[in-house]
Amino acid sequence: MPVLRGISLDIRAGEMVSIVGPSGSGKSTLLYCLSGLEPYDSGSVQLAGRELRTLSRGSLAALRRKHVGFVFQSFNLVPSLSARENIALSARLARRPVHAADIDRALTDVGLADRGRHRPGQLSGGQQQRVAIARVLAMRPDIVFADEPTGSLDTATGADVLRLLRAAAGGGRSVIVVTHDLEAAALADRVLVLRDGLIHNELHQATPEQVLEAITHAKADA
Ligand SMILES: Nc1ncnc2c1ncn2[C@@H]1O[C@H](COP(=O)(O)OP(=O)(O)OP(=O)(O)O)[C@@H](O)[C@H]1O
Ligand SMILES: [Mg+2]
Repeated sequence: MPVLRGISLDIRAGEMVSIVGPSGSGKSTLLYCLSGLEPYDSGSVQLAGRELRTLSRGSLAALRRKHVGFVFQSFNLVPSLSARENIALSARLARRPVHAADIDRALTDVGLADRGRHRPGQLSGGQQQRVAIARVLAMRPDIVFADEPTGSLDTATGADVLRLLRAAAGGGRSVIVVTHDLEAAALADRVLVLRDGLIHNELHQATPEQVLEAITHAKADA
């Protein structure tokens, strides 16, 4: 049985969209398919005007490097490298040279101007996730995907991280976040409620209470 079914979705430039729904409803799968991290058997995903399925592995990688940033729950920083080096390495792998000033700006934007020389092990979870976000923003992606970016953080730290992602949206850059956090979800312009691989509901400018109600409703209908 397909994991995702009948999903039709347009992400507009500059908007923030959050995806919520029960465990196993397909949130991560949707994010991975949209971002080109996971191939799909049928359907169509267009990113920056290109149909992902038609691209060779190399062209897909190039398209992702140019347009896409991804933030993971587990930060995915290289433990032996400093925050600065993590950002520089990522840029080098993306063949997007960043100058020292770009790294400074990215670190300043996430409130870590004085932590550039620290290794991940010397930083709190929230600081590590902010480095991961700085690493993505330094590449100036058109679209940022985040799969439960606050899942490993306490509520207050998670709220800071989500505010950074909220601030990253706009000016043509879109942000798509999968989250179980109602307050976080409600920061988005649009909330998609997934259930059994379908978009069960879509909310606009929702309050946390409305998000909770929609999720409860999705579970009750299961
Ligand atoms: N690579 C895969 N091959 C086959 N089935 C998969 C694969 N990845 C996920 N699934 C299945 O697809 C469904 C959706 O999984 P997915 O990880 O997208 O859910 P999720 O909404 O992100 O859940 P959670 O909130 O627990 O992270 C699940 O039933 C899962 O078992
Ligand atoms: Mg998931």
